[in-house]
Amino acid sequence: MKFEELHFSKAPEIGTLPGPCSLSLLSKQQSMEGSAVSYPRNIPVVMEEGKGATIKDVDGNIFIDFFGGAGVMAVGHNNPSVMAAVQEQQQKMTHTLDFPTEIRLQLIEEIQSVMPPGMKKVRIQFGGPTGSDAVEMSLKLAKYYTGRHPFIAFQGGYHGMTAAACTLNSGKFWKEHYLPMIPEVHFAPYAYCYRCPCSPQSIPVLWNVLHTMNTCWKIPTPGCALLLPPLSNRSRVKGVQLFLQIHIYPVLHRSVLLMMFC
Ligand SMILES: Cc1ncc(COP(=O)(O)O)c(C=O)c1O
Repeated sequence: MKFEELHFSKAPEIGTLPGPCSLSLLSKQQSMEGSAVSYPRNIPVVMEEGKGATIKDVDGNIFIDFFGGAGVMAVGHNNPSVMAAVQEQQQKMTHTLDFPTEIRLQLIEEIQSVMPPGMKKVRIQFGGPTGSDAVEMSLKLAKYYTGRHPFIAFQGGYHGMTAAACTLNSGKFWKEHYLPMIPEVHFAPYAYCYRCPCSPQSIPVLWNVLHTMNTCWKIPTPGCALLLPPLSNRSRVKGVQLFLQIHIYPVLHRSVLLMMFC
């Protein structure tokens, strides 16, 4: 199949937004689902079919999908190779908890093969179906492994909406209706110089971060782990600057604090 055949060829092709069919289904949704539904409030479309990097709505509008299924559709919608593999597996077995299957072990080998040098033999822990599940699992794993419980997250970070993950989100917006949250979560400023909370220069920011963390990871008991968002669509922190990793890592090492990318 040619690359261009993976997508709707006319994208983008947009008429009235939202179209009449979208409006009718949006209003039906509103009458049937709870008010916790949030995305359609800002993006009032009703999607019907996805193809590659494009999406068609119920009114025939065709969009380029910059949303990417909230970041999880890296190979696009309805990719023929993926669909064939899914179908083949579904016909054999859908779900095996954490019992081994050949295909499961093959996936782990694939993941190990793309790990950076020195991490090729790391053992894998599957975190669950959503990002929030993975964060919850990492937090529990870190507590179990270190025997400690304080966490350090970054200002502007987003980690999910389950209870512990939500505690690590920075800002009132995520948490004000759900207090109290899990105790002993501390926030440090992030060295993100484009919209820097401290100063327009990286080095003073870095020192600020290190100093703040150095202060907060000892209060009131030694910290357990630092959550570093490598890249997040919801976080205001974008991308971990290499120097941050390079400078933070030795400090974490000295303090026996785990560094978790999530
Ligand atoms: C860095 C990060 N962690 C966790 C999550 C939560 O993932 P999910 O919405 O799949 O629970 C997100 C979602 O945007 C995220 O960007």
